Amino acid sequence: MSRRLLFTVVTSILLFTAARPALAQSDPSKITGPEACVACHKLEGAAWQEMKHFKTFDELHRRPEAKEIAGKLGIANIKTESTCVQCHYTSMGAAGAAKVIAGVSCELCHGAGADWTKVHNDKTKPTHIADAEKLGFISPNNIYKLASNCFQCHTVPNEKLVNTGGHQVGSALELVAWTQGEVRHHFLNGKTNADDTPDRKRMLYLVGRVVDLEFSLRGFAGAVEKGNFVKGMNARITAAKAELQKIADKLPDGVAKTDVLAIIAAAPKPAVAADGDTGLKVTNKDDILAGAKTISGLGQKISDTYKGSDLAALDSLLPTANQGTPFTAP
Ligand code: HEC
Ligand code: HEC
Ligand code: HEC
Ligand code: HEC
Repeated sequence: MSRRLLFTVVTSILLFTAARPALAQSDPSKITGPEACVACHKLEGAAWQEMKHFKTFDELHRRPEAKEIAGKLGIANIKTESTCVQCHYTSMGAAGAAKVIAGVSCELCHGAGADWTKVHNDKTKPTHIADAEKLGFISPNNIYKLASNCFQCHTVPNEKLVNTGGHQVGSALELVAWTQGEVRHHFLNGKTNADDTPDRKRMLYLVGRVVDLEFSLRGFAGAVEKGNFVKGMNARITAAKAELQKIADKLPDGVAKTDVLAIIAAAPKPAVAADGDTGLKVTNKDDILAGAKTISGLGQKISDTYKGSDLAALDSLLPTANQGTPFTAP
C-alpha cells in the first residue's frame, strides 16, 4: 500500500472515531462483512439489497451531485475518502489495511460482529442477547441505541461537508416511517415482512423524536462558522422541540409527560456570537452539550422502561406513509 493511501486509511479511522464518539460498532477491524450475516439471515440480505444503503456502494461516486460535492472539497476519490466513507460505506480490515467493501451494511446498524456473532444466536442461553450487547451488538430491542446510530449519520454532523461541499444538512428522518418503508426486514418470525406492532411503532416514534433533538443539539454545538450548517442544525432543534411539545400535549398526566417536558426543558435555546467575518462561536456550547447528555439519559430510560401500550395517546401523531416501499419476500 502506498504511503498516501496508508495515511488516508489511518486518518479515516481516526476521523471515524472522532465523528462517532459514543459507538464503536463500526471499527473496521471488527467488521465481518454482510455475507457473514446473510449466511443465516438470507431474507434480510435480500431486503438490504433493495435499500439505498446498499445501492450507494455502486451509485454514489457516479452521481453528478456527489462529484460536485467532492469537487468543492478537493476530493479525488469518493470511495477512499474518509469523509464520504464514514457515512456511505462499510470499511473492513485491520488498522492500516481497511478496505471499503459495501454501502451501509448490517453491522453499521447492528454493531460490528466479530465479537458477538457467535453469542447472539445461541438460544440455549437465556441471556444470549444481553451477552451479545455487552460485546457491541445493537439489538433492535434497544430502540435508543438503534436510533442514535441512525441519527449520527442522518443529521450529517460535518460542517465543512455542508458549508463548503454543499451536502444536505440532514434528513427529515422520522423513525417509524423510515424503518417501516424500504429499510424494513422483519423475518425472524416468518417470511411476511410484516410491519411493526402498534406498540412498537409508538415507542419508535417517541424515541426517534428524542434522539433527533439530542443529535441536532450535538451538531449545533460543533458549529464554528456562518453558513447552512448552523442554520440547518438550528432549524432541526426548533422542529424537534415542536414535535416533542405536540407529544407532551397529547400525553395524559404521568411519568411520560413529565419526562418529555423535562427533555424539552433540557434543550437550551442555541446562542451564537460573531467571530470575525465568517466565523461564529456557540456561546452556550457547554449548556447545549449538558442538555444533550440529559436528553440522552432520558431517551435511554424511555427505551428501557416504557411500554408502547401506555402510549396510545400518540397514535394520531404517527405517520401514515412510509419512506420507500418495503421489500416483499419471494
Ligand atoms: C449462525 C447463524 C447466524 C449468523 C451468522 C448471524 N445471525 Fe443474527 N441471528 C441468528 C439467530 C438464530 C437469531 C435469533 C436469536 C433469537 O431468537 O434470540 C438472530 C438474531 C439476530 C437479530 C435480532 C436479535 C434481537 O435482539 O432480537 C439481529 C439484529 C441479528 N441477528 C443480526 C445479525 C447480524 C448483523 C449478523 C452479522 C454480523 C448476524 N446476525 C449473523 C443467527 C445468525
Ligand atoms: C455524516 C454523514 C455523511 C457524510 C460524512 C457524507 N454523507 Fe452524503 N449523505 C448522508 C445521508 C444520511 C444522506 C441521505 C440523505 C437522505 O436521503 O435524506 C446522504 C446523501 C448524499 C447524496 C444525495 C444522494 C441522492 O440520492 O440525492 C449525495 C450526492 C452525497 N450524500 C454525497 C456525499 C459525498 C460526496 C460525501 C463525501 C464528500 C458524503 N456524501 C459524505 C450522510 C453523509
Ligand atoms: C439502516 C440500518 C440497518 C441495516 C443496514 C440493517 N438493519 Fe437489521 N434492523 C434495523 C432496524 C431499524 C431493525 C428493527 C426494525 C423495526 O423495528 O421494525 C432491524 C432488525 C433486524 C433483525 C430483527 C428482525 C425481526 O424480525 O425482528 C435482524 C435479524 C436484522 N435486522 C438483521 C440484519 C441483517 C442481516 C442486515 C444486513 C443484511 C441488516 N439487518 C441490515 C436496521 C438495519
Ligand atoms: C453509516 C451511516 C448511516 C446509518 C447508521 C444509517 N443510515 Fe440511512 N442512509 C445513509 C446514507 C448515506 C443514505 C443515502 C444513500 C444514498 O442515497 O446514496 C441513507 C439513506 C436512508 C434512507 C433512504 C432515504 C431516501 O431518501 O429515500 C432511509 C429510509 C434510511 N437511510 C433510514 C435509516 C434508518 C432508519 C437508520 C437507522 C436504523 C439508518 N438509515 C442508519 C447513511 C446511514
